[in-house]
Amino acid sequence: MRVVALDQGTTSTRAIALNDQGHCVVLHAVAHAQRLLHGGCVEQDPAELLANLRSCADAAGPAEAIGIDNQGESCLAWDALTGEALTPVITWQDSRTLADLDRLRRHGCAGDVQARAGLPLEPYFSAAKLGWIVRNHPAAQDALRRGRLRLGTTDAFFLQHLTGRCVTDVSTASRTSLMNLRTLHWDETLCEIFGVPIQCLPEIVSTTGDFGAMNTAHGPVPVTASVVDQQAALFGFGCRNRGEAKITFGTGAFALMTTGAEIVDRPDLGLLPTVAWRRQDAPPVYAVDGGVFTASAAIDWARSLRLFDDYAELNEPAAPPAVSRGLVFVPALTGLGCPHWEPRARGLWTGLSLEHTRQDMMQSMLEGIAFRASEVIAAMDLCIPVSGDLFIDGGMSRNRYFTQFLSDVTGRVVRPAQMPELTGLGTLLLASEAEGGGMEYRPTFGCFEPRRLAKDYLDRFAAAVAVSRSAELAAP
Ligand code: G3P
Repeated sequence: MRVVALDQGTTSTRAIALNDQGHCVVLHAVAHAQRLLHGGCVEQDPAELLANLRSCADAAGPAEAIGIDNQGESCLAWDALTGEALTPVITWQDSRTLADLDRLRRHGCAGDVQARAGLPLEPYFSAAKLGWIVRNHPAAQDALRRGRLRLGTTDAFFLQHLTGRCVTDVSTASRTSLMNLRTLHWDETLCEIFGVPIQCLPEIVSTTGDFGAMNTAHGPVPVTASVVDQQAALFGFGCRNRGEAKITFGTGAFALMTTGAEIVDRPDLGLLPTVAWRRQDAPPVYAVDGGVFTASAAIDWARSLRLFDDYAELNEPAAPPAVSRGLVFVPALTGLGCPHWEPRARGLWTGLSLEHTRQDMMQSMLEGIAFRASEVIAAMDLCIPVSGDLFIDGGMSRNRYFTQFLSDVTGRVVRPAQMPELTGLGTLLLASEAEGGGMEYRPTFGCFEPRRLAKDYLDRFAAAVAVSRSAELAAP
């Protein structure tokens, strides 16, 4: 059976399938524009994303099933009748709702939100963004008055256009902060807190099943899976059992650990309970999630500043770790996620001196991202010990210096996926399973053994994190 995954990520949309040799390959990829606006706004054009999904499906060739994964919390408003987008996509990185969330905190809503959605009051999730749209966007307000407003994550918007079914899967709904994690339904109290009219939200359905047929250049193809990209990667890694974890180093670095049938709610550790997936007619599988908001986004930013020219330059710095020479980078360029949850924190270098070179700065950036990931793994270990080696994927997992340093700093064997497309693979496997294909695929991994690292390196990083969280640096 030929199944195609459409991976709609933060920076690009890709079509992924198994080739004749049985390797998971990218058949087509299209980048899209990001609008970085004043006040922490990060937007994308919904029509551009939709066109890219269509062109990826067409370029992928004939298929018997399609699975789609999405970038999680990114959301928008659209006309329920015509499907016309009424707002840009407000992405997961967007922090325009900081002041709204401060207000909710002052009104004592944090406990209720945590108890119902399992999530902290953070601009990362969709709820505050959707509430912001309702309060501030004239076209959305007009559609609401006329009973035609639709609010949701990008998956539901895409599906309405691609298959005519305006639904969202339960893994994506668990990232909105509007779904009750226990009932798996939209929660009236949460909708009230955030000012989101519950009737405007799409129906919540299982991760696999009948999502309708997508018209492609090769005829109609059933869409049989729809899932958040990070959850798809967890599935692609084969993390089916409690304690099995992965980290994907993309725009941000997202660690997920499967917790099985149990909702593991440990706000004290800064970990987020989330739905991993729910197969049709089966109970949900849960996970805990820990996000580092800036990973390769920091590296791309450094490149845009000409701190380096070619990614190959970053592979094997000759010098000992930058942290051993006093230089530390905290990648809090869009705030700090797990376990700190400090959206106003900002990125910084500490310990800069006249002797430091561009190369040293880049080396410290790679180390800073590894340090942040190690903080998340340490939190997971306190919750449920991460079983076995640490499995990673994403662009940065191909950087030898980074991967070795991650192994050193976590004290674990790190296993980078040799095939970089585990998000696409997970989406493929879910879609194929739903279509009765039962496709088997075992990715292969490299191996990096930990070396001894001076203990005070972690202390130096912790000290730099404390500065990045300090009120003096805070984003307004
Ligand atoms: O939570 C955001 C995450 O799902 C985005 O992942 O791979 O699209 O950057 P990615």
